[in-house]
Amino acid sequence: MVDKIGNKAAKDFSEEIVFANNGNFHVKGAANYDWGMKDRLSRIFNPKTGKTVMLAFDHGYFMGPTSGLERLDILIPKLANYADCLMGTRGAIRSSVPPSFNKSIALRASSGSSILQEDLSHESMVVDIDDAIKMNASAIAIQTFIGADGQKETIEELNKAVNLGSKYSIPTMGVVAVGKEMERTTQFFLLATRMLAEFGVQIVKTYYCDDFEKVAAACPVPLVVAGGKKIHEKDALALAYNSIQGGAAGVDMGRNIFQSAYPEEMIQAVAKVVHEGYSDVEAYEFFLHLTKVSEED
Ligand code: 5RP
Repeated sequence: MVDKIGNKAAKDFSEEIVFANNGNFHVKGAANYDWGMKDRLSRIFNPKTGKTVMLAFDHGYFMGPTSGLERLDILIPKLANYADCLMGTRGAIRSSVPPSFNKSIALRASSGSSILQEDLSHESMVVDIDDAIKMNASAIAIQTFIGADGQKETIEELNKAVNLGSKYSIPTMGVVAVGKEMERTTQFFLLATRMLAEFGVQIVKTYYCDDFEKVAAACPVPLVVAGGKKIHEKDALALAYNSIQGGAAGVDMGRNIFQSAYPEEMIQAVAKVVHEGYSDVEAYEFFLHLTKVSEED
């Protein structure tokens, strides 16, 4: 193992140079996979734009019914049409999402903690790959706690998921966890996103940070950016815009959509940024137009 003391810090990310090994496939780093893996990735990442709007509503797996997600059966059908991919637990999806929607699924496959605990960093893969296959999942999502107490076990579980996913051509989405005490620096996200990619995941879900373009350039698979805590719609659209400009292949947004007073309008505005090149300002105007709310409201 390389001694970490005296290690030369990475600095030349050549952010302006596009990823060099994509062949003619639209998903970063996936050119060498087989048909099944590419088919599933194409259900998540729109082949026309190479990007995705994932709707995250997996919060209940450790938080119970949080604001906006009290009634999955009412909310999710309203929003599903505007998303490329639904990220949820098998319980939420089986019970509340009609299979006739035919949407791609990023199946939350790890758990182990609840908000009743101080330390949420101990998770394992709890969903059998057979069940992910039965649900026709387009990806399995595993949370990984780099730099936290549960690092070793969550890395092992992530690698288990990658092994099983490779066997059946189901992409694994590695989810970079950020705990209360965990730093959210560029250095942290460079480390965590790259580690997950090197473990073999096909997608990394992460958070936006300063110098995000360096993080995206150094990660050989697509990054999708989480929304985080609810902020003003204008700011959430700026987050989406900055992420896409910085090299993200999409967003995996939850609270900033379902906790908006106008979730249907908000997800459509996010999609304009992700797929249609709208700026955050244009997308916010579009949002106001849909809601007929004036900016002062
Ligand atoms: C947490 C998750 C959540 O799905 C994620 O945080 C996305 O939701 P939000 O946009 O509300 O942050 O993966 O592990």
